[in-house]
Amino acid sequence: MENTKAPLSVPKNWCFDHIGIAVHDLDRAIASYEALFQTTHYGREVVPSQGVEVAFLEVQDGRVELLCSIQEDSSIAKFLAKRGEGMHHTAYRVASVSKELRRLEQLGWELIHKAPVMGAHGEKIAFLHPKSAHGVLIELCEKVD
Ligand code: CO
Repeated sequence: MENTKAPLSVPKNWCFDHIGIAVHDLDRAIASYEALFQTTHYGREVVPSQGVEVAFLEVQDGRVELLCSIQEDSSIAKFLAKRGEGMHHTAYRVASVSKELRRLEQLGWELIHKAPVMGAHGEKIAFLHPKSAHGVLIELCEKVD
């Protein structure tokens, strides 16, 4: 039966944050997306824990993260070699990454990180395995004040 009614509740501690796009050349990708959105990028930064350099572009109700590899063995390098440029992950902001990891592990979700690691802008992040999310790599992020 079709479920046409609004959901009973919308999770308050899960908020869509960004999609991550793997690119070969960060400068070129920034230029393309700046032209697309008619905006400027921000938050360009090397993230040593992930072996990547990232830059963000803001749109209404969300952000796009462009990622390129700065290490031969990074997961982005492997992704680009195997699949080429494209959609890499979707990211959700949660109140507590640690808490969600514990909850999801109990539900049998496969976790790439069992504890939060340091992401861009000093945020706590963790990735969930695409196997558990029907083929989508999911990032959880948490703002640290
Ligand atoms: Co991300």
